[in-house]
Amino acid sequence: MKRIISVCLILAMLLNICGCVATRMEPVRETKNGPIKTDIVPTQKQTEEPTTKPLPVFAAMSYYKADKLAAYEAYKQLHPEMSIEDVVTHVNIGLDTPFYSNVKEIENKSDILVLCNKYNTLGADYEPEDLVDMPYTYAYANQRMRKVAAEAFYKLSDAAKADGYTIVAASTYRTYDHQKNLYAGYVASKGQEAADLCSAKPGTSEHQTGLAVDVTDMVLPYDSFGETEAYIWAKDNIHKYGFIIRYAEGKTPITGYKTEEWHFRYVGVDIATQIYELGITYDEYYVRYLAQ
Ligand code: DAL
Ligand code: ZN
Repeated sequence: MKRIISVCLILAMLLNICGCVATRMEPVRETKNGPIKTDIVPTQKQTEEPTTKPLPVFAAMSYYKADKLAAYEAYKQLHPEMSIEDVVTHVNIGLDTPFYSNVKEIENKSDILVLCNKYNTLGADYEPEDLVDMPYTYAYANQRMRKVAAEAFYKLSDAAKADGYTIVAASTYRTYDHQKNLYAGYVASKGQEAADLCSAKPGTSEHQTGLAVDVTDMVLPYDSFGETEAYIWAKDNIHKYGFIIRYAEGKTPITGYKTEEWHFRYVGVDIATQIYELGITYDEYYVRYLAQ
């Protein structure tokens, strides 16, 4: 009997050992650093858990910035109808905070492609080094632009003339102090809110870059240029000479300015043509394709 009990005990121990092996053996995964053990025992019913969080949809945009993810999410909540592309673009411009908040000093002030707007200032001291005096054929008295922009403008004006239209420069480069006086005058006459829709605070005017020009047909005042035949020609032709209409119709929420059909900005033929074809503002173009 003792022998039978002993045999049964030995058999029971053996079965238990086999059971332990079956239930407690830890799965071993191979990694590049060698095998590692894990406590997770996969079963057939278990669905595979993703090992990383899914990438945010915003990251699909090439101009997505990881440090702005929370801002993209907050902006999308406020604008549920807006495309992901526009959400990322707007936040990169700075539009998730009010105009003139978080204003940064521009680093590449003399770059032909400089972005100057309500979030990026040239500061009080910037003056371009290559301003040229513009002749009366093309401009009112005492007008100056940067050389490359002035020469492109002469070609634009000549082309308009060849097609029977007059387009000349009424206001071009403006110093910081000139802009300061203009802006103060608008605030005094119209009030701050209306002034901000039509005039830049000193340091943030494209006129200080030497690359912007307010034009006239010399019949109507410059700020009625949108009502002229010359404008009909201009809106579909100025990109061929490197200019864009910087504050185009319907873009106030992005630019912060009312439509200014008369304010042209030089950016070069290739980019002007792309902006014309895309129908976007320079602010949008810059953060999508030019910003690092
Ligand atoms: N009128 C434009 C926005 C300026 O003041 O620069
Ligand atoms: Zn202007």
